[in-house]
Amino acid sequence: MAMKNISGPSADAAGRRAVPQHIAIIMDGNGRWATRQGLPRKAGHAAGAETFRRITRYCRDIGVKHFTVYAFSTENWKRSQDEVSALMLLLKKYLIEAIETMAQEHVKLYVMGDITRLTPELQALSRRALETAKTVDGMQANVCFNYGGRDEIVRAARKYAEDYAAGKAASLDEALFSTYLDSAGIPDPELIIRTGGEQRTSNFLLWQSAYSEYVFTDTLWPDFQPEDIDRAIEALNHRDRRYGGAK
Ligand code: FPP
Repeated sequence: MAMKNISGPSADAAGRRAVPQHIAIIMDGNGRWATRQGLPRKAGHAAGAETFRRITRYCRDIGVKHFTVYAFSTENWKRSQDEVSALMLLLKKYLIEAIETMAQEHVKLYVMGDITRLTPELQALSRRALETAKTVDGMQANVCFNYGGRDEIVRAARKYAEDYAAGKAASLDEALFSTYLDSAGIPDPELIIRTGGEQRTSNFLLWQSAYSEYVFTDTLWPDFQPEDIDRAIEALNHRDRRYGGAK
């Protein structure tokens, strides 16, 4: 587990604290943040995307290896055309930027989810980002886009069934099934943070969150700061994680 020098109750004897390998975030509250300032909801998403950039860099700097955010759910298509288009444009902007800067930023940007419903341009950019990421060393940032936990499990089940029918897959167990998920090869998140005051999972990482610790905060995502990550890690480090066992 990555360590960073820091003092405090969760620090070890050498003054280092345990930093999770994988942090995931439900970035909620962009719309309310914008409305409170008399701005259109899409301005909240633009501000939220800047927060994503800031928090991604912070997680990289403290030694997190995988960072996953929920940017667009399989249910978000129900929002207005204007809002959906704004989110698509943000994805385009961040993919183009990531393809250019991944090597110097040491952040590998991946899109997780069913990209087949995205425009051909966004699909091509997602694939280019994936190819570029393979050549880069750094933290992996997964942007879940047109992502739903149930949808991911159903897509994985379909792929497995195809492989099994073709005689290419062994009989199923949890480890094998995990390899068919969008998150194949990525450790499950130890910590999932939800901003914006709601306390539910909203179809995020259903399989991967089996033993994740949740931290909920009322802070709206555009206002979220690196110190909020520190507080969430501190809370995680005080939890008693038993994974179904007993003391
Ligand atoms: C939930 O807040 C947030 C979203 C549905 C979108 C999150 C997207 C971003 C932060 C932009 C990042 C994008 C990329 C491509 C990096 P909400 O709109 O439901 O807020 P509300 O509950 O206040 O209405």
